[in-house]
Amino acid sequence: MGNDLFLRALREEPVTRLPVWVMRQAGRYLPEYRATKEKAGGFLNLCRTPDLAVEVTIQPLRRLGVDAAILFSDIMVPLLPAVPGLTFAPGPKLPRAVTSADGLAPPEAVDEVEFVYETVRMLRRELDVPLIGFAGTPATVATYLAEGGSAKHFTAFRKLLHVAPGQAHTLLAWLEGLTLRYLRRQVEAGAQAVQIFDSWGGELSSHDFETFCAPGLRRIVAALREMGVPVIFFARGPLRDVGATAYGVDWTHDLAAARRRGPVQGNLDPAVLFGTPEQVVAAVREMAAPVAGTGYVVNLGHGIWPETPLECAQAFVETAQSVPVPTE
Ligand code: CP3
Repeated sequence: MGNDLFLRALREEPVTRLPVWVMRQAGRYLPEYRATKEKAGGFLNLCRTPDLAVEVTIQPLRRLGVDAAILFSDIMVPLLPAVPGLTFAPGPKLPRAVTSADGLAPPEAVDEVEFVYETVRMLRRELDVPLIGFAGTPATVATYLAEGGSAKHFTAFRKLLHVAPGQAHTLLAWLEGLTLRYLRRQVEAGAQAVQIFDSWGGELSSHDFETFCAPGLRRIVAALREMGVPVIFFARGPLRDVGATAYGVDWTHDLAAARRRGPVQGNLDPAVLFGTPEQVVAAVREMAAPVAGTGYVVNLGHGIWPETPLECAQAFVETAQSVPVPTE
């Protein structure tokens, strides 16, 4: 592998410049992604066909020159064997809400998404930057399960915690088993780092997060770190300790304060990419200057939006890669 800046930054080893990648970097803001998806006949076909999943994983590397690749898939893909009828439109859509683990296939069913592990193995043969594997957290996945898909306000899962706490615990325990097994498989296939997306856990109170989520997350993170891979925990909202190698934080955080707690990733508001390229350059420099050095991975504070102008995504990456880094 030629470029290991991303892994070096996570290990807090000296870096010659800052590594950068973009959450949701393979996606609809790229015309070549839209063309490949069209050819494939939809998003799920892209995920299920390793040749095409490899192709769309690599597209943002060619276009932007980012320092890490992220497996092309979705947080709901490991649920396909256990939840018949799950589709994307473009967000997840289920035939019915799932609020209990009763009647679901055992977590080992996740072995059936062999196309994911094959995509990882194929990518490792092609890439000269590190490959990130990923999954959603049990709570974030449960949020979509309990709604039966995407919703404007995600209230069904938060209600479930109080209407049927025992059932919520068993659903989360089932997801913990599935998520850990799925991520282990990705690491065994060659993923060199793992990011866990907790897009909606920040909606929970500290008390509910501690009661329902934190113990399982700490077990998942510890087991993966035991395998020797760095684990990035990305959350919207509060920065909550789950024993991760690094934390991905959104734009509501003071980056320097987050960095003092350990290695950090983020945190430009994706909306900034709708300004002019000059504004993007200024914003990236201002964001990165206080934390420039190892232990920092430049990224957005959440996924890039589908309508983002390409020249602004390019300005984001180029500027990140030119920020001066103090020599140690
Ligand atoms: O490039 C990458 O980052 C890899 C691919 C990736 C996708 N989804 C592909 C995708 C990753 C890492 C995800 C994670 C994901 N999926 C999250 C966590 C990150 C976050 O944004 O909070 C969540 C909550 C989901 C659930 C999901 N999947 C939603 C809400 C949607 C629809 C809206 C949207 O954001 O696109 C999807 C569909 C999806 N997942 C698409 C892609 C490229 C769009 C599908 C299409 O092209 O038709």
